[in-house]
Amino acid sequence: MDSKQPLASIKNVSVGYGGTPVLTDVNLDIYPLDFIGVIGPNGGGKTTLSKVLLGILKPYRGRVLFPSGRINIGYLPQISRIDRSFPITVKEVILSGVSSRRNWWKSLFTKTEGIAEKLLDELGLEGYEDRAIGQLSGGQLQRVLLARAIVNNPQLLILDEPNTFVDRNFEAELYKILERLNKRMSIVLISHDIGTISSIVKTIACVNGTLHYHPSNELTEEVLHIYNCPIDLITHGELPHRVLKQHS
Ligand SMILES: Nc1ncnc2c1ncn2[C@@H]1O[C@H](COP(=O)(O)OP(=O)(O)OP(=O)(O)O)[C@@H](O)[C@H]1O
Ligand SMILES: [Mg+2]
Repeated sequence: MDSKQPLASIKNVSVGYGGTPVLTDVNLDIYPLDFIGVIGPNGGGKTTLSKVLLGILKPYRGRVLFPSGRINIGYLPQISRIDRSFPITVKEVILSGVSSRRNWWKSLFTKTEGIAEKLLDELGLEGYEDRAIGQLSGGQLQRVLLARAIVNNPQLLILDEPNTFVDRNFEAELYKILERLNKRMSIVLISHDIGTISSIVKTIACVNGTLHYHPSNELTEEVLHIYNCPIDLITHGELPHRVLKQHS
């Protein structure tokens, strides 16, 4: 695949709900093996951006293009609203993510046996495949949903605030997992916590009514201000000027 060709290309997109735009004139190219951190205030349009990429929401204006052909996108939604008392096992959750459209023929002839187990090993949950999801901790469930999101081996993985319900320990582990996954897929990571994601993302998009792309993982407060992207800096007040750490 030509790495100079974007996997997905958002061109002059305006989009919203009920005729009212939430995002105006958004442009973004997502290249193979990109790792884009999406930050911005509550209601700025971050989740809306992911819905446009997924094709769930149609733009009022502009287009979302896939220049290298249709791609497979894995998605971890913002809040897991699944009913945890539902009697379904870890393995069933993961396999429910197996794409029925693109891989329909393939899935008819390919044994899905073993896929869930392999992903669980990769995510540090070996042996959990037959566990009911009601018997998982929040962090474990988050991992299972991540396994579901990558079960089709997507070229692009979109995670909407995956760190909301997880503790610091699992958060660090999650970021290690994402760094590993980024060796084989592009990642768009939506997060409020600019301080924490800065060390793993490669570039940053500030989303607040529109999108400002910043081609590095380092931002100053001044730039955020210019981007009109006020974000909560309380949790990482030790560096008020340079907001983001250098990527090691
Ligand atoms: N289904 C919907 N119908 C109508 N308005 C919506 C809908 N979903 C979101 N909105 C509105 O669109 C705006 C952007 O919402 P969005 O969820 O994209 O923000 P966000 O940046 O993801 O916020 P947060 O950080 O809280 O997750 C908000 O004003 C929200 O109220
Ligand atoms: Mg959101």
